[in-house]
Amino acid sequence: MKALILAGGFGTRLRPLTNTRPKHLLPIANRPHIEHVFDLLQRYGVDEIVLLTSYLAEAFDTTVERAKDRGLIVHVTHEEEPLGTAGAIKNAEAFASGGTFFVFNGDVLMDVDLDAVLAFHRARDAEATIVLTPVEDPSIYGVVPTDDTGRVLGFIEKPPREEAPTNLINAGIYILEPSILARIPAGEVWSAEHQLFPGLVQEGASLFALATGGYWMDIGTPEKYVQANLDALSGKYPDEGRAELVDGSLIGAGVGIGDGARLKSVCVGAGVTIAAGAVVEESVLLPGAIVEADAVIRRCVLGEASTVGNGATLTGVALEDKTKADET
Ligand code: GDD
Ligand code: MG
Repeated sequence: MKALILAGGFGTRLRPLTNTRPKHLLPIANRPHIEHVFDLLQRYGVDEIVLLTSYLAEAFDTTVERAKDRGLIVHVTHEEEPLGTAGAIKNAEAFASGGTFFVFNGDVLMDVDLDAVLAFHRARDAEATIVLTPVEDPSIYGVVPTDDTGRVLGFIEKPPREEAPTNLINAGIYILEPSILARIPAGEVWSAEHQLFPGLVQEGASLFALATGGYWMDIGTPEKYVQANLDALSGKYPDEGRAELVDGSLIGAGVGIGDGARLKSVCVGAGVTIAAGAVVEESVLLPGAIVEADAVIRRCVLGEASTVGNGATLTGVALEDKTKADET
């Protein structure tokens, strides 16, 4: 089976980190997020992927080569202007029309039993199946009520909290039959969440959903992106490709750590420098970042080759690549 991976969004909520890269390439435990999606796919024998790109598409070139090196067949589609989540799928019709296929939101870190979802889809002879996951606050996701058999009764994208009928939300993983493609207009901006799925519900189409209990995290905000990294460090997210930890942190190649610097649960990218006396906790340091002496950093993401100045204290900050944060 093939998997289409939606990777063309602007990553607005992750600015300024996404000024220079798509969010899908931000590292989780020192490897680009999207490679974790590849891990999952390959674990279930999905070996052909279609990357649906738009914003900063050329940034995926290295990843595509690495995906091929690990045995994946890779196709890339490009939208000059983003066509929306359903429009992007339609744009990949040439690769998707051959049989049942998966679609993934490319910004979700997850551990889902794809075999179980596929068995569910086939058992119900569904035209489309949506994977669901329970969350505390459904109002920031697509909320999907179902009946006892799993038939979808509604698809409500980001409702006010008090109006969400369930805490089961769209996990951003779908199994679709090729007949779905005919339901999406060509060359138009079209949303899976606002148009395609609500339309299927209204028509009484064979649309089902299945809740799963594995690890799940949308990395689309700085807080959740940091949390996903912490979960990879703690093992809550089972990262099969993770390198050995050093005192609970991940230390990339060529990292320099000064005397008396203290680290707690940090993903330290290659070539990072942490000077003497600095304290870095629960943070992600992209390659080449510099933490100067006595700086204190908590729950931050430091962009590539960014600098935190002498003695500065930063909490919950996402620092742009190549910029400097001075004493605060
Ligand atoms: N190719 C392409 N073109 N990709 C797109 C486009 C587009 O026009 N728009 C968004 N994407 C990609 C994003 O890059 C991301 O990987 C994925 O589609 C989902 O878009 P987000 O912008 O991250 O959506 P969201 O997080 O607000 O909500 C979606 O995900 C939730 C689960 O994480 C919805 O699908 C919700 O219903 C869902 O609960
Ligand atoms: Mg998202």
